[in-house]
Amino acid sequence: MSKEYSKMNMPNMTLARKRLNKNTNVIRYSLNPLYSKLGEGKTYHLKTYGCQGNLADSEKIRGILEAMGYSYVDCDEKADLIIFNTCAIRENAENRVFGELGRIKNLKKENPNLIMVLCGCMSQEENIVNKIKEKYPQVDIVFGTHNIHKIDEYIYDVIVEKKKVIDVYSFEGDIVEDVPVIRDHNKKAWVNIMYGCDEFCTYCIVPYTRGKERSRMPEDIINEVKSLAKEGYVEVTLLGQNVNAYGNDFSDRKYTFANLLDDLYKTDIKRIRFTTSHPRDLDDETIRVMAKGGNIMPHLHLPVQSGSNNILKKMNRKYDISYYQEKLKLIRSYFPLINITADIMVGFNGEDSDLFNKAYKFIDSCKYGETHIFPYSPRPNTKAYLESQKIKFSDAVNDFTKKLRVNDLLSLNEINALEYRKKFVGMIVEVIVEKIENGIAFGHSSNYLEVKFPVVDALENELVYVLITKAGYPISEGVEKNVIKK
Ligand code: SAH
Ligand code: SF4
Ligand code: F3S
Repeated sequence: MSKEYSKMNMPNMTLARKRLNKNTNVIRYSLNPLYSKLGEGKTYHLKTYGCQGNLADSEKIRGILEAMGYSYVDCDEKADLIIFNTCAIRENAENRVFGELGRIKNLKKENPNLIMVLCGCMSQEENIVNKIKEKYPQVDIVFGTHNIHKIDEYIYDVIVEKKKVIDVYSFEGDIVEDVPVIRDHNKKAWVNIMYGCDEFCTYCIVPYTRGKERSRMPEDIINEVKSLAKEGYVEVTLLGQNVNAYGNDFSDRKYTFANLLDDLYKTDIKRIRFTTSHPRDLDDETIRVMAKGGNIMPHLHLPVQSGSNNILKKMNRKYDISYYQEKLKLIRSYFPLINITADIMVGFNGEDSDLFNKAYKFIDSCKYGETHIFPYSPRPNTKAYLESQKIKFSDAVNDFTKKLRVNDLLSLNEINALEYRKKFVGMIVEVIVEKIENGIAFGHSSNYLEVKFPVVDALENELVYVLITKAGYPISEGVEKNVIKK
């Protein structure tokens, strides 16, 4: 492989921060015939890190590759093309990718035509791409989150032009429609409703790696959900970093997340989930639409991030704990048994033990069905990082303390999650069977409880009524009552 590059566009986090409020372009993808046979007889392997947004992107990458003739292999050692769709949210996510890149370095010796690709959120960081250029010459293609639809062109550059590619855009972002998808599951589907994030929580890199908040047209989303229902999909999960900001960027209409949810409520899809909700933007109208029930599932992921007002302010979360508490109260007044889950971060700059203890008490009082706990990881160029750097990181919490706090909150999670699950013993819940192993079926109920039960008639991907007999965390147990035929 030549050392020349066909394109050399490096990321720039300073530019990526800018929001100029330009209109969003909608691009419609179609496969250029020039690229349509490049993958014939060849295989690819794809590794995905990070959030549901990345899982959805990977399904698009697979869609394009398979349209080019590539076929999937489970094992990287047999692949002609290996793609890392990466995540930048915490440093350890990044370290895992570098570990893997090192591990597979030797595969190139055995197969000199092997093409290695790095994409996703890590590619949007200049320090990462510089490191790749200098220390990982085995990587042939680097592209970011805004130009997934150009992977076909980049593969052409490598195979035909014999050149490497670095093409990362640090702009606000377009919307790309009509990208083919190969979905991981044949009953559950991700549906992006918007891209990007304008919240700029001070710890978070996502507004830099994903660009500005931009909403897909309601017609495109509703048509996608209707065709999924026709194809036999049972469940959709609507994706956005802050789904409650959906539609804020429309200049030609007033159409909100509550409107979208209400329109999807009228479709034939059996189950609708959505993530992530932002406590400040979750409005009463959305809660009222959720209260209609039907295909809108009684589960709300509402990350609190911290239970301390002092820390919430430093995080730029734009709400305080009493506001958050009022939201929980309102939601539970409509659905006393709703599953409310949250993300929580510990060890943010300035979180001393007094603030942590207060936060702990608040988190306990929320009685979550489940919490995901993360140790704060400083991210280059974010406001929290730059502010802390100015005072030589004197407000940083050490790793050992972070670990202890993670463990404290994990133990609390076990207690509250089990308490929540106990409320369902003796009740019949509706479960989609996700897998069956040795006669035992596993799946999630409407309110997202993981459930297992011995199979009587149930088959994979079917909806089944299950009587819960024993609460357990993470998995509760039950007995099959009836397969729900549709
Ligand atoms: N948009 C979503 C979350 C996206 S990131 C929201 O606002 O809730 C998923 C989770 O990763 C966040 O909820 C947060 O808890 C965690 N996270 C984000 N940045 C982090 C960082 N720098 N260090 C540790 N955890 C972080
Ligand atoms: Fe990050 Fe905050 Fe945006 Fe979530 S809302 S992606 S935590 S900046
Ligand atoms: Fe990670 Fe990017 Fe998602 S940083 S969490 S893959 S938006």
